[in-house]
Amino acid sequence: MSKKIALVTGGTGGIGTAICRRLADDGLQVVAAYTNEEKAKAWKDQQKEAGYDFEISHINVGEFESCQQACQEVVERLGPISVLVNNAGITRDGFMKKMSWEKWHEVIKVNLDSVFNMSKACLDNMLEAKYGRIINISSINGQKGQMGQTNYSAAKAGMHGFTKALAQETARKGITVNTISPGYIATDMIMKIDEPIRNSIMEGIPVGRFGKPEEIAGAVAYLASDEAGFITGSNLAINGGQHMC
Ligand SMILES: NC(=O)c1ccc[n+]([C@@H]2O[C@H](COP(=O)([O-])OP(=O)(O)OC[C@H]3O[C@@H](n4cnc5c(N)ncnc54)[C@H](OP(=O)(O)O)[C@@H]3O)[C@@H](O)[C@H]2O)c1
Repeated sequence: MSKKIALVTGGTGGIGTAICRRLADDGLQVVAAYTNEEKAKAWKDQQKEAGYDFEISHINVGEFESCQQACQEVVERLGPISVLVNNAGITRDGFMKKMSWEKWHEVIKVNLDSVFNMSKACLDNMLEAKYGRIINISSINGQKGQMGQTNYSAAKAGMHGFTKALAQETARKGITVNTISPGYIATDMIMKIDEPIRNSIMEGIPVGRFGKPEEIAGAVAYLASDEAGFITGSNLAINGGQHMC
């Protein structure tokens, strides 16, 4: 039997890499989407050395046409996409007083428009197959808000509304749509925060440490599995107890 195909946006990043590996370990054929060609090629070689044979696909998730074209190309080359993980994301922090429209818009495009663009590009095939898994990687800061991140908090909160609405539309079609909201996970995105600020963030995490990318990947793998067919429209908070709701 041919393998199910999973497409992971931001697949070459910190959390993305762990997701790609875990889905591959679970027997899926994984396509990692990227924008940085040089980084992606080096990443693919590194993964190969570690025993993972990933496909890669250039997709600018903020651009509707880029998503349409790239997904069509993946479908033609490999087959329909069964699992979509909307994981690509960026931050452009700044207090509202100094937040430019460009910083606002860039973050909304990459973190939220992307979810529409990619889901739209994959949905028809999922509907035809009467099967699909869409998993959106949001953030604790979309749940609780974070000063200096009006753009990011708004984009990540918007994902929840999208998830719940699309989950209702697709519930009878074999397609589940869920969100995962990670807390602070030890990736480059977090490790580039100044050390004193990072330490003060860690003090606020009841579990007493940052999360591991593999801890997010494990939840993605579960939501992507056949076993999770009764979970849809949900939000799974994985944050070491930092925000409970
Ligand atoms: N790390 C955390 O603590 C944390 C906490 C909560 C939520 N999250 C969320 O988890 C997700 C992954 O975060 P991470 O820590 O793994 O970050 P990361 O290592 O910086 O990875 C982000 C990925 O997004 C991709 N990307 C950026 N702009 C893109 C665009 N326009 N089109 C397509 N891909 C684009 C990047 O690919 P290229 O390099 O090829 O551009 C990169 O692979 C993000 O959505 C983030 O907001 C992270």
